[in-house]
Amino acid sequence: MNFRAVFIALVIGTALIVSAYVINSKRPAIEVRQPNADFVKASGKCAECHRNNQYSIVHEYEMSKHAAKGVTCLDCHQVAQGQTGTNHNGFVINTDVTPANCKICHEREYDQFARSRHAAPAWVAVAGNQAFAPGMIEEMEKLHPGSMKRTAHPLTKREGAAATTSGCTTCHAIGRPNADGSIGNCTYCHARHTTSVELARLPSTCGQCHLGPDHSQMEIYTESRHGIMFAAQKDQMNLKAPPNSLTTQDMFVPTCATCHMSGINGAGVTHDPSERLSYNLFAEVTTRRPNAERAEAKMKTICLQCHTPPLVDRVYQEGAAVVDATNRKVLAAKAIMDSLAAEGLISTNAFSQKIQFTYFDLWHYYGRTAKHAAFMGGADYVQWHGNYPILKNTVELKEEAAQLQKENGK
Ligand code: HEC
Ligand code: HEC
Ligand code: HEC
Ligand code: HEC
Ligand code: HEC
Ligand code: HEC
Ligand code: HEC
Ligand code: HEC
Repeated sequence: MNFRAVFIALVIGTALIVSAYVINSKRPAIEVRQPNADFVKASGKCAECHRNNQYSIVHEYEMSKHAAKGVTCLDCHQVAQGQTGTNHNGFVINTDVTPANCKICHEREYDQFARSRHAAPAWVAVAGNQAFAPGMIEEMEKLHPGSMKRTAHPLTKREGAAATTSGCTTCHAIGRPNADGSIGNCTYCHARHTTSVELARLPSTCGQCHLGPDHSQMEIYTESRHGIMFAAQKDQMNLKAPPNSLTTQDMFVPTCATCHMSGINGAGVTHDPSERLSYNLFAEVTTRRPNAERAEAKMKTICLQCHTPPLVDRVYQEGAAVVDATNRKVLAAKAIMDSLAAEGLISTNAFSQKIQFTYFDLWHYYGRTAKHAAFMGGADYVQWHGNYPILKNTVELKEEAAQLQKENGK
């Protein structure tokens, strides 16, 4: 073998290595990081094509834990039980990814979610149970005793289908029945392709639905000490910490998720936020929940990761007092409505008389708001958006009742 031949071989070899490197560096980062052949085949192909037209989708996916752990486009877009496939550029995919797909790998989260009021109860609160297949209603009734036998909310009929579709059901679809038999939608809190826990830990994520006069949790949080501190110190926190090892060193100020869902300092993540609730605060007249004591203890365990027992007990005592006082105010107004109804002065057609709105606003806006704010540190909402309008509506309700009786010669 002469020197020339060795030299040529070396030059060709080096060129090959360099060009392989250059070609590789042009490939999507995710392909380079993932040696797994199936991964490169599935994700590489989907991403290559979709990057041109939907850069955002591919980029969001590339930032996800899924991408880092080798979960491919096709793993989510595969055809799960109950779904039908579509031929798509050499793949059979499902375009309508639902929790049935997530459940393939996250059964525990799915089961907890299905038990929660974010699932079927959220949907039937608006639309009633008619969209559920008969077998499904029974299955859901087992998870939610007494919650499934509902008809569509009267406001949906009064306001019409267009308002209901773009309004009520957009939020309440968090618990929609899907054609494949699964329930709900995981993407409201995790997004479609980022599937991030950081997103789920931000108050604004919960606040997309939990806001406004009938459930002002976002506004209450924003004005609470917790919300103020979060806004000030958010950048110093590790919002990306893995759920199973999240500590108060990562998040030393709580967000909605911390109190209602996260497993801070080993408390265990839950996808059923009811687990830590002791009252039905959303109800017209608030009662304790069947599991109240256990739930209260669970929530207090979360508070106690950052506070001492006297402070936490004080919040619960003051909250209980607001619940009692609000119940008394609502019951007094309800007694007036009941006696007008007994006299035949209240229409059986809901939301058709002024006094029906006065009463509805009294408990549904102001009563709820006062109760929620008492537990979550929202002084302005206990007072100016709660008790003051309760008082005002009570005066108005009495005047309207007298007027109705006068008009009808009673
Ligand atoms: C050769 C290019 C190409 C490849 C490869 C490709 N797609 Fe697509 N995909 C498209 C185009 C273009 C559209 C736009 C809708 C259409 O015209 O069908 C689309 C649409 C979609 C849609 C929305 C369809 C709908 O009806 O809502 C999904 C979901 C999707 N692709 C997922 C994937 C997945 C997952 C893969 C890999 C398994 C993949 N695509 C591979 C080009 C491609
Ligand atoms: C964690 C699961 C998951 C992964 C991984 C995933 N997708 Fe999706 N994708 C979804 C969900 C959920 C939807 C929304 C489906 C719906 O609303 O019906 C969706 C929707 C889409 C759509 C239609 C969205 C639109 O805005 O038009 C396209 C296109 C798509 N995915 C492509 C991809 C591609 C390409 C990849 C890989 C780079 C990928 N997906 C990876 C879950 C996933
Ligand atoms: C093929 C299996 C698979 C599918 C399908 C799947 N995931 Fe995942 N998911 C994983 C794996 C693996 C991880 C990483 C777990 C770990 O941290 O080690 C993960 C992590 C997550 C995380 C935590 C992310 C973080 O930042 O810590 C969320 C949230 C999540 N998945 C949501 C979803 C949702 C929502 C869907 C359906 C739209 C889905 N997943 C579908 C396998 C899957
Ligand atoms: C901005 C999102 C959003 C819209 C729009 C919305 N809701 Fe809600 N709804 C919620 C949230 C969040 C709760 C939970 C409140 C709580 O627990 O404090 C809720 C609670 C309820 C409840 C009480 C829970 C139950 O199971 O009885 C009913 C009933 C209800 N909504 C009906 C409706 C109707 C009817 C409409 C439309 C006329 C509507 N909602 C529009 C977000 C929304
Ligand atoms: C897409 C809308 C939506 C998002 C996003 C959302 N929720 Fe809800 N939430 C609802 C609805 C609707 C209900 C009422 C369900 C019912 O009782 O019928 C509800 C109820 C609740 C309840 C009361 C459950 C009970 O047993 O009464 C809690 C607590 C709660 N949500 C916390 C959260 C937290 C924390 C987040 C964010 C991590 C969040 N929610 C994100 C729509 C949403
Ligand atoms: C109401 C908002 C909400 C919805 C809806 C939701 N999640 Fe989550 N999820 C969260 C929060 C908050 C966390 C993170 C808890 C924490 O701070 O550690 C989380 C964490 C996770 C994790 C990581 C858990 C762990 O222990 O590592 C997975 C996986 C996950 N979710 C999957 C799902 C799936 C699948 C669905 C649908 C069935 C779903 N999520 C629906 C809020 C939600
Ligand atoms: C510091 C902890 C904490 C934070 C932060 C927090 N909450 Fe709460 N939340 C509570 C407590 C305590 C209750 C009342 C518990 C009970 O019923 O025993 C409550 C009640 C609720 C309820 C009422 C459920 C019902 O019965 O009607 C909802 C809904 C809710 N919170 C949502 C949220 C949302 C959304 C955020 C963020 C914008 C948030 N919370 C922030 C502690 C917290
Ligand atoms: C992750 C830590 C954390 C958790 C969990 C937490 N808090 Fe806090 N809390 C804080 C921080 C930080 C402040 C601001 C303290 C300061 O002003 O220095 C605060 C302030 C408060 C304050 C105002 C104190 C005052 O007098 O100024 C009250 C009341 C309170 N929290 C109640 C609760 C309750 C009740 C819970 C549980 C439902 C809870 N907190 C859960 C961190 C937490």
